[in-house]
Amino acid sequence: MNKRTVRDLPDASLAGTRVLVRVDFNVPLDDAGAVTDDTRVRAAVPTIDYLASRGARVVLLSHLGRPKGGPDPKYSLAPVAGALAALVTFPVAFCPTSIGPEAVGRTKAMANGEILLMENTRFHAGEEKNDEALSRDFAALGDVYVNDAFGSAHRAHASTAGVTAHVRPSVAGFLMEKELDYLGHAIAEPKKPFIAILGGAKVSGKIDVIEALLPKVDGLLIGGAMACTFFKAMDLETGKSLVEPDRVELARGLVERAGVRLTLPHDATVAPAMTDGARATNVRRDSIPADQAMFDIGTDTQASYRRAIAAAKTILWNGPMGVFETKPFDAGTLAIAKAMAEATKRGATTIVGGGDSAAAVADAGLESAMSHVSTGGGASLEFLEGKVLPGVAALDDR
Ligand code: 3PG
Repeated sequence: MNKRTVRDLPDASLAGTRVLVRVDFNVPLDDAGAVTDDTRVRAAVPTIDYLASRGARVVLLSHLGRPKGGPDPKYSLAPVAGALAALVTFPVAFCPTSIGPEAVGRTKAMANGEILLMENTRFHAGEEKNDEALSRDFAALGDVYVNDAFGSAHRAHASTAGVTAHVRPSVAGFLMEKELDYLGHAIAEPKKPFIAILGGAKVSGKIDVIEALLPKVDGLLIGGAMACTFFKAMDLETGKSLVEPDRVELARGLVERAGVRLTLPHDATVAPAMTDGARATNVRRDSIPADQAMFDIGTDTQASYRRAIAAAKTILWNGPMGVFETKPFDAGTLAIAKAMAEATKRGATTIVGGGDSAAAVADAGLESAMSHVSTGGGASLEFLEGKVLPGVAALDDR
């Protein structure tokens, strides 16, 4: 990676220093305010532990949810401090504000090796505007800046980008480094054969990533409802399936250009409605009944995608193969997750983009069976599309 990381900060410079770490603790909370999935918190622990164990005073900044530019108790990070405290051996405290004399005073009163989580950065309207004054206020919380919030790196916000103009050095944390290595390097110079599996409901959200990956991959396998827009482009009956009529021409162009590198499902699991899983059947893709919809890839497709995964050395997966939250339409997604877990065991590099596919892998209990599962949803997609992430661009070059 061409960015400096926490490893480039001499140990001696860390003891007693306030290190401001931007993390992505945008985690789901239940109605009682408890953290229901601490994946992103766990993912930030290596950086936090590294700094705290060297005597740094670790000041954490994050957003949570999308409050409307003002304080809203529903989006308080207070419960996340508890979730973090359960994962580290260093003391964790919470500060109910993230700027101003109280916040700065709290950071200066910290003991070495302590961790202080500040309140939601989005309680300030200037955060999403990358406001200069707010960036300065955030910068006053630390003497060194570390960005470990890969999931927020596609946002040019005050706490992810603007702040770096006012605090140096600004370096990447371990999670950021790992994400950039897997989603960047492993794909720029993949071990071949390299295949990508893309799913999800809509082709519109995946066009840029398809375009970016096509020149690099040996095979691009499509699943999810977005396959139906391609079927439409092939003049097949798609029944009541989700189709994006305004993307059919584009899908036709992609099929023509990609040739044999693009594989569409051969068959589909269809049903009269998503709630009617008991009446699900498997049909060939040219036999989707007019009164039914595709909710998953079919069994032949599962088998052929499993074979492609077994033959590949680098596999990138983004987007579920069907409505994986609803049985029996989770079968295709599960088959991909299991085949990738097998591939990891025999030495392939397996990378799962964030968002729904990461959730499916977690549901299947296979997170640790992959080389890498991204913590970024939008960020991983934008990075794979080849876009510059502002939160990364703002960090010190090597
Ligand atoms: C995410 O969950 O993708 C990140 O935390 C970014 O959140 P946002 O889409 O609200 O900016």
